[in-house]
Amino acid sequence: GSATTCGANLCLDLGDPMNQDLTAAGGALVVDSDTDTIMVVRVSDTQVAALSAICTHSGCENLYTESSKTLDCPCHGSQFSLTGTVLRGPARRPLKVYSASLANNIITVTLG
Ligand code: FES
Repeated sequence: GSATTCGANLCLDLGDPMNQDLTAAGGALVVDSDTDTIMVVRVSDTQVAALSAICTHSGCENLYTESSKTLDCPCHGSQFSLTGTVLRGPARRPLKVYSASLANNIITVTLG
């Protein structure tokens, strides 16, 4: 994905071909902020979610699974909900969640 800083936030322009995975419900992609690697998910036509993509077990990058709406770690099988909750270990700590919104074809991820 392609994100730009906008004020203190990250903005993803859905008109950018790099972000086309987020133009339809069920899509997801990963973008970097200065301090984290963030999974951005198009939950529905109107809703988006953003949370750290980095597994709290040993730091692998989670993958998004649309059928279960979960982040799944390819390294040792941890699973997290879109609210960051651990659904399956070995991870014990939740993922950091960012507030995210969609307006005017721009997804804004609040980093603060
Ligand atoms: Fe994710 Fe181990 S690093 S389960």
